[in-house]
Amino acid sequence: MAQDIEHAKTAHGERAPSCTIVIFGAGGDLTKRLLMPALYNLARTGLLPDDFALVGLDRVPMTDLEFQNHVEEAVRAFAADKHYTQTLDETHLKRLVSCMTYMSLDFASPESYLELDAKLKDLKTTHHVSDNVMFYLAVGARFFGSIVDRLGRAGLVTETDHSWRRVVVEKPFGHDLESAQALNKQLRHSLSESQIYRMDHFLGKETVQNIMLMRFANGIFEPLWNRDHIDHVQITVAETVAVENRAAFYETTGAMRDMVPNHVFQLLALTAMESPASFDADAVRNEKTKVLTSVHRVDAAHDSVRGQYAAGEQNGAAHLGYLQESGVAENSTTETYVAMKLGIDNWRWAGVPFYLRTGKALGTRYSEIAIQFKRPPISLFRNTATDELTPNCLVIKLQPDEGALLSFGAKIPGPKIAIGQVHMDFHYKDYFQNAPSTGYETLIYDCMIGDATLFQRSDSVMAGWEIVKPIQDYWASGEAPLAHYPAGSEGPAESDDLLGRTGRAWRPAAE
Ligand code: BG6
Repeated sequence: MAQDIEHAKTAHGERAPSCTIVIFGAGGDLTKRLLMPALYNLARTGLLPDDFALVGLDRVPMTDLEFQNHVEEAVRAFAADKHYTQTLDETHLKRLVSCMTYMSLDFASPESYLELDAKLKDLKTTHHVSDNVMFYLAVGARFFGSIVDRLGRAGLVTETDHSWRRVVVEKPFGHDLESAQALNKQLRHSLSESQIYRMDHFLGKETVQNIMLMRFANGIFEPLWNRDHIDHVQITVAETVAVENRAAFYETTGAMRDMVPNHVFQLLALTAMESPASFDADAVRNEKTKVLTSVHRVDAAHDSVRGQYAAGEQNGAAHLGYLQESGVAENSTTETYVAMKLGIDNWRWAGVPFYLRTGKALGTRYSEIAIQFKRPPISLFRNTATDELTPNCLVIKLQPDEGALLSFGAKIPGPKIAIGQVHMDFHYKDYFQNAPSTGYETLIYDCMIGDATLFQRSDSVMAGWEIVKPIQDYWASGEAPLAHYPAGSEGPAESDDLLGRTGRAWRPAAE
């Protein structure tokens, strides 16, 4: 097993140290749609190293020039979307692509890794790069283990005191607890934990990072952030997109594996964690892991819902049901929606239910965390019973309308005492200039400077799989019902019952 080596640190905001990025799966969608525009944004903002090289690896044969043209095209296409990049700067783009080379490689052939080794040595002369290398595995999860094995055998991930070798692993990390443990064991055979950067792109989102800032950089929230004041928490990641052209992936993945142990649990951990001793990677990750390991065993039959979209209507247009989508088996039971109720066994949260839901082909795209406070204990207002007082709610809006909303009661003007609900509504865009990004910039940059705070540590990945295990087992037993919901709706009625049986209700979409 490889040992951790401490490397010199680059301060945040400084140009990253000289390195080479090697992308496995350089011809794929992720590289084209997200990694290249992100690298361009890093180049434009002066964070990419001065001495930098990139090696694109994939099976298809391509010359360096063809690859460079492919990248240039991708960045140009995405620059058209102002959400990702600002006006294209030709100098930065040209300089970036000039750092790129391409190798057609058979991931399974040991000789290919020797060629890669020779290539990396060459780049030290041709591109004046250091020995630092980031290997980015933008390939199907089934290749992660074998690629790392081969990198290890070819000596490509051996670090020295002066140079690092890091491997970025995309999600999903395993498909259940056992497979994640097996994959981790396989990776750890060649890599130390500090060399593994397990990607969860939600952590690259500004608003997700802001959850910690909002909680720990303000005095007013923390005293209320506990079981004494909070009735329950709702975490929603609702998507309007359906399965699209990803049926092959989605059929074996489903909403649970695709979204829950990774993205949704990151939101859960950031919402529920204790304040870390510092913002060091391990201090933050310790606290996040503690939350996940404190989640008590889910009663799957009672507290989880799996759903699949049926034909419906979205924005006035007919929408196919999941079973009619191309590439989906006609009797598929793959879930496109999941909801669950979790409890956290610690002093802060005992007795506070956390309701989580995520789904595809829904009516509204939005991700948010709603903190529902308790009702006031008594009503001082004649004719208003306490259960008629609407409890306060703090909503952290993650996307697309990024901000926060606090709802509370106020007097409706007039001689009568009557209470109306009002909102304090903060929108990011009203205060800060939006820095266009793909969300991958921070993560690629952090990996280059060796800051693992926004990457998942193995214990937290395992804790996530451990939480969903009883649900996965129950669903696999064949006894779990599959709820259906019309595409374009808010999800299955069974999901409403999850809260409804205790007199609670989901916050309506985009309120
Ligand atoms: C990905 C999932 O990890 O996250 C997709 O595989 C999902 O199914 C996507 O649509 C959501 O991310 P974002 O950034 O579009 O909210």
